[in-house]
Amino acid sequence: MKYSWNVACETLRLSPPCIGNFKEAIKDFTFNGFAIPKGWKASHFLTLYWSASSTHKNPEYFSEPEKFDPSRFEGKGPAPYTFIPFGGGPRMCPGNEYARLEILVFMHNLVRRFKFERLILDEKIVFDPTPKPEKGLPVRLLPHKA
Ligand code: HEM
Repeated sequence: MKYSWNVACETLRLSPPCIGNFKEAIKDFTFNGFAIPKGWKASHFLTLYWSASSTHKNPEYFSEPEKFDPSRFEGKGPAPYTFIPFGGGPRMCPGNEYARLEILVFMHNLVRRFKFERLILDEKIVFDPTPKPEKGLPVRLLPHKA
């Protein structure tokens, strides 16, 4: 289901369910000209946070970043650490393969068994703190004829 997964990835790029996370610097480093000292982590004044939402919209790696385009994931796909809905490195989400399976099984059943129509076409996405359709994405399901 390569194309379906490309569609799911493009959705995870534009609306990552986990918008980022806090980390602690284990050594001194420099990022974009900012010196980050060892020991920085989430606290009142010193916050080290990686953001999936902004990383995913970097035009250097995703041309026309607001455009929904599953073909970005064809071939080798995005450069390492530019697409990070499941994080990256040693604390990356251990449930990512299970999530992939669940998403693809859901998409398969939805598309193969039903035609569906969104009931609210201009429904907003709200953050509480994860992104969700404001009214729960009501849809009308119409079973395909057998
Ligand atoms: C679309 C679904 C999911 C997304 C987008 C997601 C995303 C993430 C992200 C971004 C992190 C933090 C990574 C980091 O800070 O470096 C994380 C951690 C984690 N996720 Fe997921 N996740 C998903 C589904 C799941 C599922 C299905 C499970 C379990 C069955 C799971 C279990 C975990 C656990 C245990 C951690 C903590 C790992 C650690 O701190 O070592 N996740 N997830």
